[in-house]
Amino acid sequence: MRIIPVLLLAFGLVCCVLGGKIQASLSVSEEEREAHHYVDRIDEDILAHREADIKADWAYESNINEDNLLAKNDAAVARAVFMKEVASSLKKYDYESFSDEDLKRKIRKLTKLDYAVLPEDKFAEMQGAISRMQVNYAKTKVCDYRNTSKCDLALEPELTEIMANSRDPEELKYYWQQWYNAAGAPTREDFQKYVDLNGEAARMNNYTSGAEYWLSAYEDETFEQQVDAVIEELRPFYQQIHGYVRYKLREYYGDKVVSEKGSIPMHLLGNMWAQQWGNIADITSPFGDRQLLDVTEEMVRQGYNPIQMFEMGDEFFQSLNMTKLPQSFWEKSILEKPNDGRDLVCHASAWDFMKQKDVRIKQCTRVTME
Ligand SMILES: *[C@@H]1O[C@H](CO)[C@@H](O)[C@H](O)[C@H]1NC(C)=O
Ligand SMILES: *[C@@H]1O[C@H](CO)[C@@H](O)[C@H](O)[C@H]1NC(C)=O
Ligand SMILES: *[C@@H]1O[C@H](CO)[C@@H](O)[C@H](O)[C@H]1NC(C)=O
Ligand SMILES: *[C@@H]1O[C@H](CO)[C@@H](O)[C@H](O)[C@H]1NC(C)=O
Repeated sequence: MRIIPVLLLAFGLVCCVLGGKIQASLSVSEEEREAHHYVDRIDEDILAHREADIKADWAYESNINEDNLLAKNDAAVARAVFMKEVASSLKKYDYESFSDEDLKRKIRKLTKLDYAVLPEDKFAEMQGAISRMQVNYAKTKVCDYRNTSKCDLALEPELTEIMANSRDPEELKYYWQQWYNAAGAPTREDFQKYVDLNGEAARMNNYTSGAEYWLSAYEDETFEQQVDAVIEELRPFYQQIHGYVRYKLREYYGDKVVSEKGSIPMHLLGNMWAQQWGNIADITSPFGDRQLLDVTEEMVRQGYNPIQMFEMGDEFFQSLNMTKLPQSFWEKSILEKPNDGRDLVCHASAWDFMKQKDVRIKQCTRVTME
């Protein structure tokens, strides 16, 4: 990754030295050259700060405790301070008049500071709000529907499996309510703080709102209209699917649970967020007599473990000519839920540490087709 900018810079200098001799008007301004040099030089430091920041996040998310929280916040503050310096060094240039589009884009991005633009106390408040929401989410546990003195059911794996497999509407409703009340409600104030500070940071970065700031990442003025247009195009199809699934669920659960015209109760869709409906395909399949493909039992029978599942994934991507995972992936990833009593964020995530040979996955994998 480093080779390209270095080559470009060398080529740029040769070209400009020669160009300067032949035709002065073609030369890039002194100011632009200086900015280019600065951006290239700072690249490695930016990556190092990001790496330190992401490593501290990883340490915390894979082992939630006070020490790791402090280390994570320290790394975030150090990076924010550094990025502020970079932004203020770059703001002294009149970069919109530069000719190199790539350089202009880099500088535009580096002068917008994200939450790091906030004053130190508010930045710390933001960090605090985010961490508390994360901790609450990661540690949420609810009590058993049939045994209220057993209160150790976590989102992963227990609740995820119940949402997928239970066909008792009262049980599903119970877990849905318990989990949302415990995972969401206690963080209401922190969420409000997060929304407010996000908007404040956006305005300090000269956007009109937090939404405008997030949308800017797409670098497309018409992004919202394009998405609206796609949704409108899909709406008739979506309405048909919705109507069909509601009909199938009503047939299965009865009118008292699923009304003829109303919304579908979210807890009946097989997934805590009603994000994917595949887990209720046994109810909704139009070909009820056909066996649905489910290789879970066979995977268990053949003794698959999570490591083998990731090895298969790696082999598959290599067959598409993608790069083999580095050895460190296997050493540093968390592919199974650790049972040493530590709290961690189990929600599956893929991590890039901004280094050639450090990518990881953190997932409390279960041996299922999903
Ligand atoms: C979790 O973090 C604590 C404090 O930093 C550390 O002492 C402990 O070894 C860590 N546990 C694991 C399993 O990494
Ligand atoms: C209910 O859960 C508690 C705590 O796990 C356990 O000790 C008890 O045996 C359970 N009761 C029944 C009826 O399963
Ligand atoms: C926002 O605009 C003001 C006034 O034009 C300018 O001084 C400031 O540097 C800008 N801030 C950012 C982060 O671009
Ligand atoms: C596979 O990747 C290599 C290296 O990136 C490339 O040279 C080669 O052409 C690729 N092969 C196919 C079939 O795409």
